[in-house]
Amino acid sequence: MSDFEPFYDVSRSYEDNYEQGPFGAFAEALKDGNGADAAGTTSEGASASFLGQPVNLPFGIPAGPLLNSRFTTAAFRMGFDLATYKTVRSRAWGCNPFPNVLAVHPKAADGSLTPGSAELDEGVLADTNYETPISISNSFGVPSQSPDAWQPDMRAAIEAAGPGQVLVPSFQGSRVEGMSEEEYIADHATTARLVKETGAKLMVMNTSCPNEGHNRLLCHNPLLVGRITEAVKQEIGDIPLMVKLAYIPSDGDLELMVRSTVGHGTVQGFSTINTISAKLVDANGNQALPGAGRDHSGVCGNAIRGAGLDMVARLAAIREKLGLDFAINGVGGVVSPADYQAYRDAGADSVMSATGAMWDAELAHKIKASR
Ligand SMILES: Cc1cc2nc3c(=O)[nH]c(=O)nc-3n(C[C@H](O)[C@H](O)[C@H](O)COP(=O)(O)O)c2cc1C
Repeated sequence: MSDFEPFYDVSRSYEDNYEQGPFGAFAEALKDGNGADAAGTTSEGASASFLGQPVNLPFGIPAGPLLNSRFTTAAFRMGFDLATYKTVRSRAWGCNPFPNVLAVHPKAADGSLTPGSAELDEGVLADTNYETPISISNSFGVPSQSPDAWQPDMRAAIEAAGPGQVLVPSFQGSRVEGMSEEEYIADHATTARLVKETGAKLMVMNTSCPNEGHNRLLCHNPLLVGRITEAVKQEIGDIPLMVKLAYIPSDGDLELMVRSTVGHGTVQGFSTINTISAKLVDANGNQALPGAGRDHSGVCGNAIRGAGLDMVARLAAIREKLGLDFAINGVGGVVSPADYQAYRDAGADSVMSATGAMWDAELAHKIKASR
């Protein structure tokens, strides 16, 4: 891996990446004279769309590694037709201490991790030996600039999209100490309004980060997500809203999530999955990431593709069963053109890759070339 440089450099701090990134091929793509991506015109046909917006290929990068408009613009130029702007908040929010990323090595021969398996709590080896097919952990704590900084930058990011390309803003609510449930709901609506003010044509609301206490995610409470999306809808009107979900093991809970959101007309799609939480240990069995509350961390990349495909297939089955119309954005472990196709075959209308794209800046071009 020595001469390869991911566009988000895991050996630097989040702040350095924000100020100096992107790196590698993405930095090259930003240099003068490099215009919109030529390969971006290799179209799937005029019918491809993402929440009502026309796209060349419904493939891109989910919330996370694209920190600001320089990253999203570089992603467009590298042929990723969907570029998600990393999750923003209603207020400035600090990042977890460095390091934020480690390589993860599950025991299975194919490198997979299965939701609910004992390995997740016994410990998975994590270190700095990055190998392909790549699996990593990410522990950032969803940092955000203040709206004064991210609003003008998000506006610039939206304007940099080429024909058939869509900037996807991502946001989430912030739970601070002493906040009532009503205030927590209102914070989501406020943040959605701030996103709308940038000229966003659609948005994704993240409900899959550990906001609700240790290992407790907002998406594990479908009725609260339903109330939040009602409040958000009041602010954003007709702008399509997608909800980002973590892996939800129970079909009953997943169906309740669909009924309490899509069923009420507040949500037009789901993006899934986020990371899978695992205990991370070093070669001596000690906690791999330094600091309190970081014994478990989210794993993404190759290890979680089976879980992502499973979630997408189950969501597609619920869509069919209930006869409801909503979009499914498949995420998790996409590292090759075959993985893109597997998600489409499982029922995803669009597909995104975070870890796979970080380690292969040519991934969108490869998928387009394979078609
Ligand atoms: C560096 C990094 C940062 C991330 N930050 C966010 C985030 O801010 N909001 C979010 O909804 N998901 C975030 N994610 C999760 C990704 O959107 C995605 O759901 C997950 O990584 C699984 O996809 P992958 O296997 O292609 O990486 C992040 C992922 C990575 C790798």
